Amino acid sequence: MVAQACVFATPAIRDDRRRGLEVTVFSNYSPSRRELLQVGAGLVASAMVRPTLGLAAAVSDYKITPGPGRARLKGGGGSNTDVWAYDGDVPGPVIRLRQGKPARIVVENRLQEDTTVHWHGIRLPNAMDGVPGLTQPPIKPGERFVYEFTPPDAGTFWYHPHANSLQQLGRGLAGALVVEEAEPVPADRDVVWVLGDWRLDSDGNIAPGFGNRMEAAMSGRVGNTVTLNGTLPGDQNVRAGERIRLRLVNTSLARIMALRFEGHRPVIVAVDGQPCDPHEPEGGRLLLAPAMRLDLIVDMQGEPGRRYAVIDDYYDGLAYDLTSFAYAGQAPLRKNPLDAPMRLPRNPLPEPDLQSAKRHELALQGGMPSMGNMTGGGKMQGMGGMSGGTGGMAHGRAIWSINGTSMTGDGHADMLPLVTLMRDSSHVVTMRNETAWWHPMHLHGFSFRVLSRNGVPVPHNQWADTVLLAPKDTVEVAFVADNPGDWMLHCHVTDHQTAGLMTVLRVT
Ligand code: C2O
Ligand code: CU
Ligand code: CU
Repeated sequence: MVAQACVFATPAIRDDRRRGLEVTVFSNYSPSRRELLQVGAGLVASAMVRPTLGLAAAVSDYKITPGPGRARLKGGGGSNTDVWAYDGDVPGPVIRLRQGKPARIVVENRLQEDTTVHWHGIRLPNAMDGVPGLTQPPIKPGERFVYEFTPPDAGTFWYHPHANSLQQLGRGLAGALVVEEAEPVPADRDVVWVLGDWRLDSDGNIAPGFGNRMEAAMSGRVGNTVTLNGTLPGDQNVRAGERIRLRLVNTSLARIMALRFEGHRPVIVAVDGQPCDPHEPEGGRLLLAPAMRLDLIVDMQGEPGRRYAVIDDYYDGLAYDLTSFAYAGQAPLRKNPLDAPMRLPRNPLPEPDLQSAKRHELALQGGMPSMGNMTGGGKMQGMGGMSGGTGGMAHGRAIWSINGTSMTGDGHADMLPLVTLMRDSSHVVTMRNETAWWHPMHLHGFSFRVLSRNGVPVPHNQWADTVLLAPKDTVEVAFVADNPGDWMLHCHVTDHQTAGLMTVLRVT
């Protein structure tokens, strides 16, 4: 046990900080005397208490208010867009909880319609899962609901409505939820990037046409404006030599991203909040589909004064610079990358017993048939034009199905479970994507171990709550059914979910 705590100074505090998007990391890691000398004057190394305790103790009580808000989604300064937002701002506030400590979050609905909040990825009691009809009555306009749970896992999660999801998420209701480890890994800064995707018309308003059937049968409502923490991504100011823990959250309705960090070598330390063996992404590309999160450790080893692009090249022929790292001119914070462990402590996940596990198959079906070669990368189809509004999808008309059955919408009372699992038994679920489209498949209430993809074992001990299936992929996942209740399993491309790519698992 290390008695001494230290605080690494933040080179530049951006105003994101007030909204919790960036915090100086307090760590119990004790640098060597040599490192202290290298770090220099900015470092305070003698705090006697663990600052993390004070940091989070005050914030396990939250109130968030979904309602109308305004956001700066367009360039050129003044133009504001009407959005739906938590506490009037996009993204919603970063909710910071502590692992194993109770949380109480009051949600007061100031929208003109019913809503709920789903705490995506948190293993919580079913009654707190936020699915209208299935786990709770919807929160009516003007009413409140109190969510209470104790997050068992540290990690990066997020929250969003589970009612009228296409519009509520598509108009801006989303926020990051960080559950802090008791002892975080050493880093100079902990930074959250909430990535959002919007379809704006030429006036900068959110374009109508949610639920366009053509899009729903293809890649979903992919937008035309990507934001980082709610604004058009400007430069990210960094200092040479610093180590950043970067938490990526993709809150898009449908946009899949594949990020490359020019000149840098990010290390993935957690997937969907769950620690994995630290590893560099294949081909240097960070694949991030809707609802997925990645925790990275990035050593800023670029040159002072230079800029390095962060590129999203997921869609064929549509690569763009998402943002860039802009290095301050200052001398490096330290000469060599911080020599400290990156591995996060494991969360208390029950390990499935693969020998005794029951096996299940889920065939994902429907959508438009293949449109040419789908293997190279993402195809963006069904943009529908900016004027797009071909009218809403008739409710309940399914385009997609799982094992021949389609559940549509966001959650309702008469969703009969596809299968009932005995409590505490182990299960292997094989998902087969028989469609021509990509699907980030998400299970509520559990994290599953990702066993294999197309027969090849998945390396690095990866657990997830959302796993991306390319066209024709077969993915095997395993979990212990230790959490009783009715749990949704659906594609997180929201158009796909609401048009039938959804089912319910019951655990009793
Ligand atoms: Cu973020 Cu039903 O999910
Ligand atoms: Cu979820
Ligand atoms: Cu899908």
